[in-house]
Amino acid sequence: MLVSGIDILAKANIDGYAVGAFNTSNLEITQAIIESAEELNSPAIIQVSEGAFNYAGGKNIAAIVKTMAMDASVPIALHLDHGRDFGILMKAIRFGFTSIMFDGSKYPLQENVERTRRIVDIARSVGISVEAELGKIGGTEDNISVSEQEAMYTDPDEAVEFAKETGVDYLAIAIGTAHGPYKGVPHLDFERLKEIKSRLGMPIVLHGASGLPEEDIKKAVKLGVNKINIDTDIRQAFAAAIRQFLDENKEEYDPRKILGVAKKAMKDVIKKKIIMFGSDNKAKEALI
Ligand code: G3H
Ligand code: 13P
Ligand code: ZN
Repeated sequence: MLVSGIDILAKANIDGYAVGAFNTSNLEITQAIIESAEELNSPAIIQVSEGAFNYAGGKNIAAIVKTMAMDASVPIALHLDHGRDFGILMKAIRFGFTSIMFDGSKYPLQENVERTRRIVDIARSVGISVEAELGKIGGTEDNISVSEQEAMYTDPDEAVEFAKETGVDYLAIAIGTAHGPYKGVPHLDFERLKEIKSRLGMPIVLHGASGLPEEDIKKAVKLGVNKINIDTDIRQAFAAAIRQFLDENKEEYDPRKILGVAKKAMKDVIKKKIIMFGSDNKAKEALI
């Protein structure tokens, strides 16, 4: 079934587990996410970045996800990831996304507050959940690069003020994760996460979770992370499987066979994450 983001995350917050938010840009990735969630009886969030929205056509990718989610046996939310462009945010609402992220992290604090509040007001009036970002997460997304020096950890006092003034449903925080593959060993600021969670109480979102060690993920979930974003690990599984398959089957040209192998590899990754996040077998009680 297709549900709103907060419906899934409010329950995860109460029961202390995290739900995977997996990025999609096509049919096969979407199938891999939904089949994995169904096989493990887990809720899932399927998210579309601005880049993916433009690549697939926002209306097309929304139609694919919504159609499959409505028939799914588990709760699925359709989320806009890192929405920055006002037009894309509004189109996402029009195309039936059930959750949107407004990413105003590049703006000074007050401007981020004002822009986020404006989006929350609009989304609220049509019953859509909103995620916002405070602090700056390192790495590259939508071709915008934030170096490790530029990445700014979320300040707990600012987080409290930000949540109160904007009314967001869930908050993405910067505690040392980065988008894309990690170059060194990531060191997460768990104390910061603990303080922010204890003072905010709301669902917390962890971006850039591909490549994090399992202990880090489990600790972050224990300390209050309820939405975990995974893109790179899925992309890498997709690419590696296709490379190997074509290498071993040089004459093959049927896209269904080639992408079928990729889908299987993506499912293996997604299912491992779902179990790691603790949302397996939570589909029935996933909604409040
Ligand atoms: O947060 C970043 C996601 O991995 C989206 O990446 O902008 O290349 O689609 P993308
Ligand atoms: P990764 O690509 O590092 O998994 O990050 C995904 C993400 O944060 C999407 O918003
Ligand atoms: Zn992200």
